[in-house]
Amino acid sequence: MLAIASDHAGFAYKEKTKTLLDSLHIEYRDFGTKTPEAVDYPDYGHAAAQAVSDGTCSEGILICGTGIGMSIVANKHAGVRAAECTSEDGAELARKHNNANILCFGERLVTWDTAEAIVQKFLTTPFEEGRHSDRVKKIHTLTGC
Ligand code: RB5
Repeated sequence: MLAIASDHAGFAYKEKTKTLLDSLHIEYRDFGTKTPEAVDYPDYGHAAAQAVSDGTCSEGILICGTGIGMSIVANKHAGVRAAECTSEDGAELARKHNNANILCFGERLVTWDTAEAIVQKFLTTPFEEGRHSDRVKKIHTLTGC
């Protein structure tokens, strides 16, 4: 189960991403926001990241104006590795090298075509493991979260 959330600035892309997930037959839980009215991104990013942190959801997609606020919120949660991506290559490397379990991007920073390519890469690229495994473990052991 994938967690998805946005604020108002990412709402349109959240709805488009849900349509993409539907077409790929990927199950998701929408943590809001549910309308384009202005809201505070931490409220929604926190709820979705908490679900990834506690294992309710295996991965997440968070969208705001830039993706930056959402990534800052998500990375406060234990076990979360949220990557703010602006390119398909970035999304691929975030999975291969960082084993990112939450993808963040910004509706104000990337076109929908790029966002769609970013989501596809995030969903289909496996973690490379090998030399990256100990590095990823250290993210959590050295920070305590
Ligand atoms: C909202 O205006 C904007 O600040 C928010 O979507 C996000 O970009 C914050 O990081």
